[in-house]
Amino acid sequence: MKNLASSLSKKNKFLILGCGFSGSFFAKTIRQLGYAALTSSRSENKDPNSFVFDSENGIVPDEKIFTGITHVLSCIPPDKNGEDPVLKSLKNKLQSLSPEWVGYLSTTGVYGNTEGDWVTEIDQTNPCQKRSHNRLNCEKKWVESGLPVQIFRLPGIYGPGRSTFETIRNQKIRVISKKDQVFSRIHVADITKAIIYLLQNKNYLKFHQIINIADDEPCSQIEVIQYCYDLLGLKMPKPILFEEAKKELSPIAQSFWLENRRVSNKLLCKTLGYKLIYKNYKLGLKNCFLNS
Ligand SMILES: NC(=O)c1ccc[n+]([C@@H]2O[C@H](COP(=O)([O-])OP(=O)(O)OC[C@H]3O[C@@H](n4cnc5c(N)ncnc54)[C@H](OP(=O)(O)O)[C@@H]3O)[C@@H](O)[C@H]2O)c1
Repeated sequence: MKNLASSLSKKNKFLILGCGFSGSFFAKTIRQLGYAALTSSRSENKDPNSFVFDSENGIVPDEKIFTGITHVLSCIPPDKNGEDPVLKSLKNKLQSLSPEWVGYLSTTGVYGNTEGDWVTEIDQTNPCQKRSHNRLNCEKKWVESGLPVQIFRLPGIYGPGRSTFETIRNQKIRVISKKDQVFSRIHVADITKAIIYLLQNKNYLKFHQIINIADDEPCSQIEVIQYCYDLLGLKMPKPILFEEAKKELSPIAQSFWLENRRVSNKLLCKTLGYKLIYKNYKLGLKNCFLNS
């Protein structure tokens, strides 16, 4: 791919809806590459390239925000009624822009529980949780919108400022052991770089509407926590069995332990040729350790 001209041009302008953890990483990176990017949040801030969008309170951006937008990335989860905040408030506006590309950050929760088996994009979705049913419904609404949408299904997102190190430092860590349970994860930098890779090579790669972005090595949470304690030079607390620990977990925390799956990145990394920056939690956490 290196010798081919990028499918992105400096005339492209990005609208990033939801400038939280992943959205802000994407915005920072795309701007460093020389592209214009406007970002939304629910409250005012000092960033001149930020604007307010809050679907729950009916605050929609001014017309001028949309001028010249060619690419849109939504990083906003379903609202409390399960609806997509962007489609609910801005669908007509986005359709009238005829953007070249729209990205939607979704979750691998839509696959449900595979009891540890690998899941790929062509596997049947089977959401177990209400929030995952809502998410799948939002994905469908994006596809039905007729916008040129590409859906990225993500497992647990981590990166500098949001990783097991913060949980340890906040003294909120629970070391829970559950036989054969694994989690998939992805470093925030790989979400951004994978999307940019796909955009830069859009004219040369076959279009896939749904793409998993996950690292190569799903593993138990204990392995991850142990690795962080090792880097910190501290002793990890004794693990508690899930059956014991669950009494003190919130319903949402418990629900994460009811799903066990390995998310395949073969489409992204083998078929489409993206090279992960952090192919496993060790490399990714070392980056967090050095940058937090
Ligand atoms: N975190 C994970 O491990 C994980 C895993 C898989 C998938 N995902 C999904 O991937 C996406 C990005 O995740 P993230 O962790 O980077 O998200 P995040 O940090 O929680 O950011 C979410 C963004 O959405 C905005 N937002 C929320 N509700 C809104 C509404 N009703 N109207 C307008 N804006 C609204 C927030 O605004 P403010 O900036 O004002 O708060 C924030 O900018 C989300 O859809 C998330 O559910 C997350």
